[in-house]
This record gives sequence, structure tokens and C-alpha cells, in this order.
Amino acid sequence: MSVLKILCCLLIACYLGEGKKIRGSRASVTHTEEGGVLRMKEPYVSSSVFRLFLGGEDTCTLDPLQLHTLTSCGFNSSNPLIIITHGWSVDGMMESWVLRMATTLKSNLVDVNVVMTDWLSLAHQHYPLAVQSTRTVGKDIAHLLQSLQREYRYPVRKAHLIGYSLGAHISGFAGSFLQGSDKIGRITGLDPAGPLFEGMSPTDRLSPDDAEFVDAIHTFTHERLGLSVGIKQAVAHYDFYPNGGDFQPGCDFHNIYDHISEYGILGFEQTVKCAHERSVHLFMDSLLNKDKQSMAYRCSDNSAFVRGICLDCRKNRCNTLGYDIRKVRTARSKKLYLKTRSRMPYKLYHYQFRIQFVNQTERITPSLIFSLQGTEEESGDLFITIDEGIHGNTTFSFLITLDKDLGELMMLKLSWETSDLWRNVWTRMQSILPWGGQRSKPQMMVGKISVKAGETQDRTSFCAMNNDGPHIEVGEDKVFVRCKEDKPTLRRRKHSRPLKMNTSVQQTKY
Ligand SMILES: *[C@@H]1O[C@H](CO)[C@@H](O)[C@H](O)[C@H]1NC(C)=O
Ligand SMILES: *[C@@H]1O[C@H](CO)[C@@H](O)[C@H](O)[C@H]1NC(C)=O
Ligand SMILES: *[C@@H]1O[C@H](CO)[C@@H](O)[C@H](O)[C@H]1NC(C)=O
Ligand SMILES: *[C@@H]1O[C@H](CO)[C@@H](O)[C@H](O)[C@H]1NC(C)=O
Repeated sequence: MSVLKILCCLLIACYLGEGKKIRGSRASVTHTEEGGVLRMKEPYVSSSVFRLFLGGEDTCTLDPLQLHTLTSCGFNSSNPLIIITHGWSVDGMMESWVLRMATTLKSNLVDVNVVMTDWLSLAHQHYPLAVQSTRTVGKDIAHLLQSLQREYRYPVRKAHLIGYSLGAHISGFAGSFLQGSDKIGRITGLDPAGPLFEGMSPTDRLSPDDAEFVDAIHTFTHERLGLSVGIKQAVAHYDFYPNGGDFQPGCDFHNIYDHISEYGILGFEQTVKCAHERSVHLFMDSLLNKDKQSMAYRCSDNSAFVRGICLDCRKNRCNTLGYDIRKVRTARSKKLYLKTRSRMPYKLYHYQFRIQFVNQTERITPSLIFSLQGTEEESGDLFITIDEGIHGNTTFSFLITLDKDLGELMMLKLSWETSDLWRNVWTRMQSILPWGGQRSKPQMMVGKISVKAGETQDRTSFCAMNNDGPHIEVGEDKVFVRCKEDKPTLRRRKHSRPLKMNTSVQQTKY
């Protein structure tokens, strides 16, 4: 039933894609709040319920009209405030991640007030109706924050709103209602909803203007029937697109049976939700695995990213995904890409490989196997096929990800994989033409291989060993060592933020 409902609602959303009616009614709401500043006469009736998280499953309901409830609930006005806001609800139940997020925040940040917005009564409607309610809920949050400011002199700046799906846009609306007073400190959008928000003007969705700092994690922007569950466009100062943002590893439909056995009938819905909710788990991961913070890199798009050419940290081009992001306000949204594992901890280490091929006379499309030896770990075999082929002098670049830190890179092994077919052809050739066999065996000449580690920004160049020419034959293994001019650097700091790089590192052109 749930899936049908999801599809129906998405179709309705699609139908109303122009969103004119909805925009009209939302616009009239804005109109009465001229300038965006709340000028509400008491009593203000909130349609949302706010609960202060106490621990375990205990919460205490806050009444913005009776602010003494804040004190009796244990709200500590010297501490920051985090407000978690859920999204559209198919079944009218609070999703389990909300409480898990609250627990994770509270246990890792300790001196923090964690509040959960409950707008289930409005969220449990057809999608377009739930969308219409997002401004109302945003206003409820803005009102709570203003009451805090008025009664407790609690600065709005100390608030961090975390919203999932529709909750992301709600948080944005809360921020826009507060314009004119201080801005909210931070808004984090976890896969902000796409339908009815994609392509809208910044005032009609989450945008960088809504807080001092806005970050967003996009995890399910795979388009079906012309619309995607998560918004594709950048809506923040930093927009993260893990694994390209369209879909997430471990969420594919092959795993549907696992999900069904784990969650019962809801398995199918879980599968649908898997990639959307991944944004939530990536954020929690940043709190739970402090020593495995995922790094993301600015790139024009995912296809450039998988070519490995974006692992650059200069001028704030890279940032940490999740709670510990560096809060750099930028004039324009920055799109950041990264690869992740399919489960927690999600962190992967990114390596760019660049290989020079020299004087290749016949076009070849080799399948290569690399392995890297570092001071800490070995990579194991890494397979890569160069489908576009090699001809003449070419430099080929690609991205490799590993779930372990290799340490300083010392040695690289390269082998040109030979298929059984090749081996047969070639053995036959040798037996038919014993004198010409040597020449017919495909060859390539590899110049320098350079490897750049995104996480440390270290660049290592490998050369073939001297007594051993640069030629590689099909089926052959070859060992590359650090080039003579590439002296080992001992400045490497583990897990350090590659922040202030002196940009004497050579710039390569593509
Ligand atoms: C509020 O939190 C601070 C720590 O940030 C703590 O020192 C103080 O005792 C707390 N106040 C109350 C009333 O619990
Ligand atoms: C590549 O071929 C050119 C001639 O075509 C030759 O001059 C050059 O030395 C060759 N390069 C290498 C590295 O063998
Ligand atoms: C490759 O570059 C070398 C110089 O490094 C040049 O001599 C050679 O002719 C080039 N080969 C081809 C096929 O372009
Ligand atoms: C970068 O290094 C050069 C010397 O290699 C030095 O002159 C320059 O001041 C350095 N820049 C920064 C920003 O550290």
C-alpha cells in the first residue's frame, strides 16, 4: 500500500509540477509577513509540537506560549540548540531515525539542547498538501526561536536546524521568517525534497540566504518520470553529492530481499527510502566516527569527479561532510563530490592515478591491475579497463577509492591482464610463426605514474626501475618505485585537514 501511495503522490506532485496553485497560496502567506519579519500577535497557535529530547526515549513537550515549560523541561540557555525536523510521512508515524539522530547528537555533543519538531498531523497528507504546510511549520519554528530570543535573550545564532526531505525546506522557511533579526546559525538540509521545489526561486525553497551557513547532502536525485525524490540543484553554501548524489551503494534493488526479510512488508518501502535516508546516516556517521570524517571535493560534475581530476583542496575546494564541516560562507554554492562505502563508517580514501603512455603505435584498450604498497597498508588488486583506448602519447587519469589509509606510498605494481583468449591467440601465433611471435605480442610503454591522495593532498610519482625498461607486454607484471626526484616527504600528517597548502605543487592542465 505504501509504495502505491508513494507513487500516487509522486504522480500527483508531477501533475501539479508547475506548482502554480501552491505557489499562489504560499505567496499570500509571505505577503502578510511583509519583509519576512514575524510580527505575530499573541496568542500564536502553533500547528507543530516541539519536544526537548532528554535521553533514551524521554522527551518533554515545549509550549512556546508558556516558556516556563522550557526551564522545567531542562532547556539550558547557555548551550546551543539543535532542532530536528522530519519530512513527509506516509504512515503518520515518527520515523525511527529521528530519535536516533537526537541520541547521537546528545551523546556526542553533550552540552546541547536537542529539540524535535513533530508536524506529523500536517505531514501525513497527500504530498502536495504536505508541501503547502511547510511554510506554516517553518513559521512555527521561527516563532519558537523568537520567543526564546525575547524571553531568554537566547541568540538565534546559536540554533542549528537539521531538516530531512520536506523538513529541509521547512528549516529554510524558518530562516526566511527570521530575516531582519539575527540569522539562524546553521541549517543542514538532508536530501531536501525535490518535487515542487526543484527550479523554484530561492524564497520558495531552502537557500543559502536562510542562515549564516547552510549545508546540504543530496543522496537520491535519481530521476524517474521526470522528477527525483531529492532536489538536484544546489541549495546551500556547500552541497554534497555522495556517489554522484543520484543513488547510493547498498540501496540497489538486488538487496530488496534482504530488506524484506529485515523489515517485513515494509521492505519495499525501505528500499525506496534507502537512498533518500542515506543523507541522515551520513550525517550521523560524522558524529559517530570522528576519526573517519568523509572528505568531499569540489567538481563540475560527477563524470569529471570519477576521472579523478577534482581532488584539490586549495581555496576551500574540499570540505568535511557532516557535523564538522568548515563553515566558510561563499558567494556561490559549491558542489562537492565524494565516494562512500555502502555502510557505516562510510568513509573512503580517494586517489587520483595519472598514467603517461608513450609512443603507442597500435590503439589498445588494456585491462590493467594495479596494487599500491604504502607504509601502513597494501591496497590489494585494483582493476581498471581503459575503454577509450590508448594511442600516441596520452595521459590517462582516473579515480580509485579504498576503505583504508595506505600511509605514505612506496611502491606500485602494474600488470597488464591477459584474457585466456589473448593467451591462446598469442601462443598459436608463436607456434605458427616462431620467428615473429615476439613482435606480435602487444606492448605498451608507460612513462611516469603519479598518484595523488585526496585526503592528505600528497602526490607521489612512480617510475619504472632503471634496469628494467618502460615497456610492458601483455600478461606481464611490472614494479614501479618512487622516481628519483620524488624524495619521500616526512611532513605527512595523518588525518589532518589539508587546509593551507602552499601552492607550489605543480598545476596540471587537462
Ligand atoms: C548548563 O550547561 C552548562 C554547560 O554548558 C553547565 O555548566 C550548567 O551547569 C548548565 N546549567 C544547568 C541549569 O544545568
Ligand atoms: C618516441 O618516438 C620518437 C620517434 O617517433 C622518438 O624520437 C622518441 O625517442 C620515442 N620516445 C621514447 C620515450 O622512446
Ligand atoms: C611522443 O612524444 C615524444 C616526445 O616526448 C615524441 O618524440 C613522439 O614523436 C611522440 N609520439 C607520438 C606518437 O606522438
Ligand atoms: C610558499 O612557499 C614559498 C617558497 O617556496 C614562499 O616564498 C611563500 O611565502 C609560501 N607561501 C605561503 C602562503 O606560505
